[in-house]
Amino acid sequence: MKLAVLAETRPGETRVALVPDIAKRLVADGWDVTVQRGAGSHAFFTDAAFEEAGATIAPDAASTLADAVVVVRVNPLDAAEAAQVANGALVLSFLQPAGAVEALRALAGRQATAVSFDLLPRISRAQSMDALSSQSTVSGYRSGLAAAEHLAKFFPMFMTSAGTVPPAKVLVMGVGVAGLQAIATARRLGAVVRAYDVRAAAKEEAESLGATFVDLGVTAEGTGGYARELSEEELARQREALAAEVASSDVVITTAAVPGRKAPVLLTAEMVDGMGAGSVIIDMAADSGGNCELTVAGEEIRHGGALVVGLANPPSGMPTHASFLYSRNVINLLALFTKEGRVQPDWKDEIVIGTTVLQHGNAVQAATAEALGVPLAELDVPATPEPEAGA
Ligand code: NAI
Repeated sequence: MKLAVLAETRPGETRVALVPDIAKRLVADGWDVTVQRGAGSHAFFTDAAFEEAGATIAPDAASTLADAVVVVRVNPLDAAEAAQVANGALVLSFLQPAGAVEALRALAGRQATAVSFDLLPRISRAQSMDALSSQSTVSGYRSGLAAAEHLAKFFPMFMTSAGTVPPAKVLVMGVGVAGLQAIATARRLGAVVRAYDVRAAAKEEAESLGATFVDLGVTAEGTGGYARELSEEELARQREALAAEVASSDVVITTAAVPGRKAPVLLTAEMVDGMGAGSVIIDMAADSGGNCELTVAGEEIRHGGALVVGLANPPSGMPTHASFLYSRNVINLLALFTKEGRVQPDWKDEIVIGTTVLQHGNAVQAATAEALGVPLAELDVPATPEPEAGA
C-alpha cells in the first residue's frame, strides 16, 4: 500500500508532513512510503535521509500521487494536485473547507476521503493527534522570541554596576495553546507577564505559568472549550477596559481566535497610539485577519513609536520541530483510519467522524457540503470491513 508525502506548495511553507523516522516506522508496518523530491529540504530532512529510512523518492507530484492510497500534507492539496490523487485515496492535512473549495471539488471527483486536522475534537484521547496544538506550541514559542528580538530593551531584570534595568512588561491576549507557550517563553526570558482571555479556565492556566491574569469580567465560553465570538458592543467594552493595560506594556502578544471566524480585533490604532515609543506588538493571528487593526500578515509596520509584527505562518519559522511534531500527529491519527498497513477507518470512532469532511467523495460535514453547494451526505458506516482503497 503506497503512502505519498507530497511537497508543500504554499508560498513560504517550510514544513513537511512526515519526517524520516516516522517514515521508517510506516515502512516497518508494511507501507510503501513515497516522498516527493525535496519535500523535506526546507526542514533539513534530506532525500537521502528518507531513502535511508526505506522510502522511495519520486520526481514530481504526479508520480508521488500515482496509485497512493494515502496522501499526507501539512496544507490542503492544490486543485490540480487533488485532481491527480488515486481514485478513493485517503488525504490528511489541515483543511478549512471554505478556503479549499476547488481542491475539495477535485477530491470529491476522485471519490477521495478527506480528513482535516482543523476539525479534530479537543478531547483527551485525541491529544497525540492534535496538530492544532502541536503547531500552536511552535507558534507561541516563536511569538515570545520574536517579541524579545524586536524589543530595544532587555526582557529580564538586570542588576549591573552601571545600574538596574527593570524587566520588560509583556501582555499576552488569548491564552489558548499558543498564548500559554508565549507566556512560558516570555517568563523564561525574565519578563513580567500579564495575560488576558475571555474564557474563565484560562486564568488558572496562565497563573500556573507565572502570569498575572487580567480579569475584565467579560466571559465568552463557547462550545468544545473554545471562545464564542463577542458582539461588537462586548468587543468595544473589552477594548476600553484593556486600553490602560496595553498602554503600560512594552510588548503585546496577541493570539486570540474563534474557530472558523475572522480573528477578533482587540487592538485598535488608538490603543497602539497609547503605547510608549519602542513598543512591540506581535500579532500571531495575522493569517486570520489579525487581532490588531494595523496588522499586515508577513509584514512589520511602524506606527508612531510602535512596531506591529504580523507573524505569517509562524510554525514555518521553526520547520524541523514543527514537522517532527506534525508527523507524530499524522501517524497517530492515521492509526484510526488504517489497520495493518491497509486503509480501514473505524467509522464509529468520534475522532474519525469529527475529522472526515469527504467520505468516498461525499460531503459528510456541514461546512464542506455548504462550501461545495451539495446536500450533506450521511456517513456510510459499513457493517463489514470496507474494500481497500486503490487506484
Ligand atoms: P484558539 O486558537 O481557538 O484561540 C486562542 C485563544 O483566544 C483562546 O484561548 C480563546 O479563548 C481566545 N479568545 C478568543 N476570542 C477572544 C477575545 N475576544 N478576547 C480574548 N481572547 C479571546 O484556541 P486553542 O489554543 O485552539 O484552544 C481552544 C480550547 O481547546 C482551549 O480551551 C484549550 O484548553 C482546549 N484544548 C483542549 C485540548 C484537549 O483536551 N485535547 C487540546 C488543546 C486545546
